[in-house]
Amino acid sequence: MKNLFLLICCCVAASLSYSQPVEQSQPAEKRIAIIPEPVSLKQGSGSFTLPDRLTIWTSDEKASRSTVRLLQHKLTTAAGIQVAVSGGAAAANRSVAIKLLLNASPDESIGQEGYRLSVAASGISITANQPAGLYYGAQSLLQLLPKEIESAQLVKGIAWEAPLADIIDYPRFGWRGVMLDVARHFFTKEEVKVFIDDMTRYKFNLLHFHLSDDQGWRIEIKALPKLTEIGAWNVKKEGYFGTFTKPLPNEPRNYGGFYTQEDIKELVAYAKEKFVNIMPEIDVPGHSLAAIASYPELSCTPGASEYKVNSGENFMKWGPKLTALVDNTLCPANEKVYVFLDKVFSEVASLFPFDYIHVGGDECAKNFWEQSAAVRSLMQKEKLKNMEEAQAYFEKRLQKIITAKGKKFLGWDEILEGGLAPGAAVMSWRGVKGGIEAAKLGHEVVMTPSTHTYVDLMQGDPITEPRVYSSVRLQKSYQFDPVPAGVDARLIKGGQANLWTEQIYNTRHLQYMLWPRGLAIAESLWSPREKKNWDGFIDRVERHFQRFDIAEIKYSRAMYDPIFVGGKKTDNPFKIVLDKEIEGLDIYYSFDNSFPDRFYPKYAGPLIPPKDAVMLKVITYRGKTPVGRMIAMPIDELKKRLR
Ligand code: ACM
Repeated sequence: MKNLFLLICCCVAASLSYSQPVEQSQPAEKRIAIIPEPVSLKQGSGSFTLPDRLTIWTSDEKASRSTVRLLQHKLTTAAGIQVAVSGGAAAANRSVAIKLLLNASPDESIGQEGYRLSVAASGISITANQPAGLYYGAQSLLQLLPKEIESAQLVKGIAWEAPLADIIDYPRFGWRGVMLDVARHFFTKEEVKVFIDDMTRYKFNLLHFHLSDDQGWRIEIKALPKLTEIGAWNVKKEGYFGTFTKPLPNEPRNYGGFYTQEDIKELVAYAKEKFVNIMPEIDVPGHSLAAIASYPELSCTPGASEYKVNSGENFMKWGPKLTALVDNTLCPANEKVYVFLDKVFSEVASLFPFDYIHVGGDECAKNFWEQSAAVRSLMQKEKLKNMEEAQAYFEKRLQKIITAKGKKFLGWDEILEGGLAPGAAVMSWRGVKGGIEAAKLGHEVVMTPSTHTYVDLMQGDPITEPRVYSSVRLQKSYQFDPVPAGVDARLIKGGQANLWTEQIYNTRHLQYMLWPRGLAIAESLWSPREKKNWDGFIDRVERHFQRFDIAEIKYSRAMYDPIFVGGKKTDNPFKIVLDKEIEGLDIYYSFDNSFPDRFYPKYAGPLIPPKDAVMLKVITYRGKTPVGRMIAMPIDELKKRLR
């Protein structure tokens, strides 16, 4: 009886110590900062310290293998902890530091990828229904440990403690992707592996691999060797993509590369071990210049045999109607094209176990089709009323090829334009409009609106960033919600961050573009909608910046920069309005060309520049610490931006 009384007292005390909302109850350095925010998180007072030698005990050795490897790697590398692994029912009650438990009967509340993570005074346990859940639980556990756990070298003098906590967590969406464009710039197999590792920290589970485009064909197709002999190579150029001079005939075409089929198998296996699927994209019928340069007979256009893989020189007039200056499309009226596609997708389908194959379909300029007698005669024969229907004819034939290989057909939202066959899935990129339309027609949808999820776009002011087409600030990415009002949420499979690489030449810049917007998108895809909170997110992002610093992952600090709010042409006098993306910052400025610091004037409202001033310099501080970049903004540039 006494014991029962004691037990009740302990339970009450334990539940009280967990009852405070985390963000108010803990000093900043003690606050738990998991990204994406878990479904339920209760932080206790106190912590559990990992001993110098510890045992990870697993209820199912095979199911826990990836998770054990992850923990073992981190704990030995950064913390120098000696990790032993044991398993089997007999050891279930041994005193071990970390237990990985696979449920014998499913816990319906956490689904296939969910987990329960408990950090108690007696040790840590992660429970899940499936191996993926254990892995995600371990990723959260790593985020509970001191930031130095991110180090690739041994860090001495750290107490390797995790705050006491009870976490129940599972994703909002099963499709949590990042698209990597390896066609515009090629990234090696080893670089892609690191990219996958970085994705998994934040519980992304799909790598959408954009494997072909006008600038390169990146996958070995054994039946079509010229795709990689010719199509994988262009002329190295640096500067602003799309503005490069046309390569000379004698310039070496030795820039690029491709993955052999063995490379692809290795990548697929590597990703699978980390619970990431790889979805291949072969982008047709537009964006196909690398294929046409390899096999000119795939074009409707005379002279295609002279075509070369694009090296970043302009060949497209963008506008309401796309006009290609070089025909980069596969010909829908050419039977050889369908034979080609069958060969390509036979090999692609056998290499990638993922259910879906992405077939592109975006930005297909039709001006050369309009001039083609073959396309006109196809249209007559098939009663196709316009060029969109000609593309739809192509897509339907391609869909048959894809489904015959046992795969599901997915394309960018342009595939809706001439009518979509049942069973096709749509990736909505021109906003969410295409996704809404597709869902209303009963098609599956993946949301990737360029307004929120295009992480190739600039994240700060164009004056500070490598120039790309437009901007998506961090806050915009955080506002991403894959389910628009009025749409059947069951048809929305999830969403993605899309990382096009026209202007990305190396992996450091890949990282800079993905983080922290990737954090915002990860949270939009994993966390419950009602748990999203911008200020709370930023608090955690700043803690993850410290982790990135230790992991030596590059990221953008653009969220600290002031926003130059554009004024109107009619404003008289001309004035400069500044805004901030996050709270708690002060902006200091100068008009005298010197570098402002916190002893300079502080921005408190619209600025009227002195008559002869040419430059506004600004920098943001938090208290006494500079946190933003020193930005030099010509006054004339601001005048040019007036609307
Ligand atoms: C796309 O961004 N062209 C899909």
